[in-house]
Amino acid sequence: MIIRPAKNILGSLRLPGDKSISHRYAMLAAIAGGTSRLTNFSTGADCASTLGCVEQLGCAVRRTPEGAVEIEGRERLEPPRASLDCGNSGSTMRMLSGILAGHDFACELHGDESLSRRPMGRIITPLREMGAEIKAAAGDRPPLRLHGGKLRGIEYKTPIASAQVKSAVLLAGLLAEGETTVEEPHRTRDHTEQALRAFGVELSRSRTRVTVRGGQKLKAIAAAIPGDISSAAFFLCAAALFPDSNLVIDGLLLNPTRASLLDVLKILGARISMINLEEHHGELVGAVKVEHGKLTGITIEGAMSVGLIDELPVLAAIAPYTRDGIEIRDARELRVKESDRIALMARNLRAMGAWCEEREDGLRVAGGQTLHGAEIESGGDHRIAMAFAVAALRAEGQTVIHGAESARISFPEFFNMLEAVVER
Ligand code: S3P
Repeated sequence: MIIRPAKNILGSLRLPGDKSISHRYAMLAAIAGGTSRLTNFSTGADCASTLGCVEQLGCAVRRTPEGAVEIEGRERLEPPRASLDCGNSGSTMRMLSGILAGHDFACELHGDESLSRRPMGRIITPLREMGAEIKAAAGDRPPLRLHGGKLRGIEYKTPIASAQVKSAVLLAGLLAEGETTVEEPHRTRDHTEQALRAFGVELSRSRTRVTVRGGQKLKAIAAAIPGDISSAAFFLCAAALFPDSNLVIDGLLLNPTRASLLDVLKILGARISMINLEEHHGELVGAVKVEHGKLTGITIEGAMSVGLIDELPVLAAIAPYTRDGIEIRDARELRVKESDRIALMARNLRAMGAWCEEREDGLRVAGGQTLHGAEIESGGDHRIAMAFAVAALRAEGQTVIHGAESARISFPEFFNMLEAVVER
């Protein structure tokens, strides 16, 4: 994909449904009584992987002519006839393992080359403690062989702040005997908690602790999934770069555990407003307007890095255009995402002529830099491809994004939508 520099970003957008919520609603619909109807379901390949697995586990999945996804729940899933294909999706493999741990049959979960390199020890440890048999192929990497069954509730302190791990344990807890509690070192996205309540499950929670009682029944829902804020991040950051920009994104997910990017953009100096706020199934939704302001700089660390984990690539990509630069700390997790995102952010920033310092747990990107077009290596990672398309809009000359088709993992419409709001 070739990206030429832009003069401005103008317009209004509505985005496909949030990836995190689409995964969760599809998985909970699979084990709920009745048929769930989900509109604005994520169009990304990752959520299609979840739907594929749900079908392999015996649930009928239909697309209606209006584009809704209908899932017939089964309460108890069927043993799959073949290995479950999780594609590129860590969320599918980790969260679904939690559900499968509570089912008395043997199954296998595999993924693509990138997913086959990602660590699964983080879910294997607690699911084994609950009573599931679960083995990884080499070290703690996929494929996973799992034989679930009767589980016991546990109290689990997650060593890393990961919503996927928290969710896997809570989903297993739902199918376990007694109570299961997860405590995390920093608060992570709480969509599983909100979704469980939407499907009729009672749970108790404080900021970093959630408890669920096993044996509760789920009831199908009808829901419109809010626009994906991690996809919106590319447009919001792009708009923040241009002096005359004005961009509105409607129907956007604004759950406070996901919306830290808006706080960061405000701290940097962009003008952000939110209107038409509503709550749908516990999720805050609204319209966001972003206009340019002179961008200063920021250090992102601790809990803030956890909350921004999927938005850090695009923040690093706009950092050279701020006055003081951006420093990212406490984000070691970026090294085990779809790619080693820290290494790829540093490599691609340097390819565009930017100065940055790569660190084990993040990077520091200086401000006040002029970038030039370059050859960008996405490493097959959707967020790296899209982040550097944004950096390319303010660079001198054109940029080639290799592996741009990886955008299909979370946001197949990205490049077309970008062209729709860019002025040249
Ligand atoms: C996700 C949680 C995050 C995030 C991923 C989706 C989720 O991963 O990076 O894209 O839906 O729970 P971790 O919780 O493992 O950091």
